[in-house]
Amino acid sequence: MKSIWEMDAPIGLAFFFGPALIIGIMMLISGFNTVSAIMVLVLVLCGLNYMHTSIIGKYRIMKSIVNSIHLKKDSKILDAGCGHGAFMLQFNRQAANISEIIGIDIWSNKDQGSNSIAATQKIMENSNLADKVKLKTANILNMPFNDNEFDLIVSSLVLHNIKPFEKRKAALVNIARVQKQKGQLVIMDIGYETGKYVRILKDLEYQNVNIANTGYNGWWGTPMVPTFVITATK
Ligand SMILES: C[S@@+](CC[C@H](N)C(=O)[O-])C[C@H]1O[C@@H](n2cnc3c(N)ncnc32)[C@H](O)[C@@H]1O
Repeated sequence: MKSIWEMDAPIGLAFFFGPALIIGIMMLISGFNTVSAIMVLVLVLCGLNYMHTSIIGKYRIMKSIVNSIHLKKDSKILDAGCGHGAFMLQFNRQAANISEIIGIDIWSNKDQGSNSIAATQKIMENSNLADKVKLKTANILNMPFNDNEFDLIVSSLVLHNIKPFEKRKAALVNIARVQKQKGQLVIMDIGYETGKYVRILKDLEYQNVNIANTGYNGWWGTPMVPTFVITATK
């Protein structure tokens, strides 16, 4: 199990556990009251849900996505914003069909705790993908790849970190540039703005663009911060 320091945006936990702690301390000082007790309970449950999504839920979502993907022989895969390699690791059982799997990241510790190329390298070395993985320090907005390089591109929980929205659009344009014709794309991301990626991908001439809400496993503390998965083919 991941430690708190390795979680996605670990500061997110402070939004729930911080106020719960403050209200709890105030109750200790001024005496128990039902409204405050309910607030503490709700905030703690939200914090636990956030932890569930980061430690268990997002892996369940990725696993079910990967199980639905048919990889052709010698597939070249890009994980754009790979972090600790959570998505890449789901391809462990399909290693025989993979020629190369490349993870790029800027290794931000704000977006993912204990984030570094060395830490991810170590994780990947213990997988079936060890001899196929290459990690690079690179920004999605400026990827060091040729046009039409990748059969499959995945990117999970990354785009919402790129601000403002115009830059996210540029990120999708960059992703489309390095994607092979007939290649598959999977974008997993947080929040309702994710719906706007559908139009952008259609404008970039992706086909079969679908979006799905991933439900409880993708809630970041509350159902108001859901995770969506977009799949498309070029
Ligand atoms: C919440 S983490 C998710 C990591 C991984 N994809 C996962 O699902 O476990 C977001 C990741 O996106 C990376 N990131 C943010 N902006 C990026 C950018 N412009 N280019 C590449 N990576 C970026 C961060 O460094 C971080 O590793």
